[in-house]
Amino acid sequence: MKTSINIIQPDDWHVHFREGEMLKVVTKYSARVNRRCIAMPNTTTPITSSIQAINYKKLIESNSNSINFEALIPCYLTNSLNIDDFTYALQKKIFVGGKLYPSNATTNSQHGVTDIKKIYNIFEIMEKENSVLLIHGELNRDDIDIFDREKYFIDEELYQIRNTFKNLKIVLEHVSSDYGVDFVNSNQNIAGTITPHHMLLTKDDVFKNEDINPHHYCMPVVKNEKDLIALRKAACFDNNKFFLGTDSAPHHTNDKVQNQSLKPGIFSSPCSIELYATIFEEENALGNLEQFSSINGPLFYGLEINKETLTLDKRSKEINEFTEEGNIRIKNFSIDKKINWKVL
Ligand code: DOR
Ligand code: ZN
Repeated sequence: MKTSINIIQPDDWHVHFREGEMLKVVTKYSARVNRRCIAMPNTTTPITSSIQAINYKKLIESNSNSINFEALIPCYLTNSLNIDDFTYALQKKIFVGGKLYPSNATTNSQHGVTDIKKIYNIFEIMEKENSVLLIHGELNRDDIDIFDREKYFIDEELYQIRNTFKNLKIVLEHVSSDYGVDFVNSNQNIAGTITPHHMLLTKDDVFKNEDINPHHYCMPVVKNEKDLIALRKAACFDNNKFFLGTDSAPHHTNDKVQNQSLKPGIFSSPCSIELYATIFEEENALGNLEQFSSINGPLFYGLEINKETLTLDKRSKEINEFTEEGNIRIKNFSIDKKINWKVL
């Protein structure tokens, strides 16, 4: 039995750092183990211009407590983007790609895209620049069940995007269903990120009787056992189209426990790589962890694989219930079972 594993240093291809005091508190937890992170641009004022991206990157890196840490910023795509600035920022690698939030799909997505066909001109530019389109793949419509949003997005939007822009690199973010896994596996130029929580929770952990567990509520919502199994298989064994993206999304506890303002998001960065290692070990696939955490992502994004390594030891990792600093109080993601791996 292995008691220690050494992997190329990971990257997290999907994290939320927020702003202000929250950013100052949470960034170090991701920088603790990752060399690079994609910082999601759904800040209160979304990141839509090159100058905002430059400033946001600086802000994150200077709060990371690490000299090597790099934040990569995608552009928050909107109906009214400044196309010249966007193209310039892609060419200068100021933007690592473009993030598509369908309007009102999740936190701060009210500025998102209402009619995706209307931004096909943006996809055309991205395809030409060999850039990456990151997608929150959910269709939020009154007639669509919350558990079917990913499937509807794939059927009604993603097939068409895929077929229209065959060379556009697409990441289906936080894949949450077996349907999503199948789509990624059966199409070209598309990859998927998988969160730890979608491999650990099912809807029973969120919705019980009339109650909701706000700390396990996220978008896309966690689904059924069959989806969890498909995601574990995708991460651990179908091992080149999927990579690490925690979707660590901190919210102040007030935004979680006061039901009228229940915000979706799970804060997992204090134990992210440890959770993934625990899952891979359960699947007897520890040997494939590095591929998922440190190789598939950079290969897909066309970036260098990290040179440093990270060691995880087989010992149980204790997690505090909350991350608390100053005015910030965030519930840390926790699970019933032990986390078996620890970065020293
Ligand atoms: O659960 C989520 N929280 N999913 C998202 O897509 C956004 C995130 C957030 O920003 O809170
Ligand atoms: Zn997210």
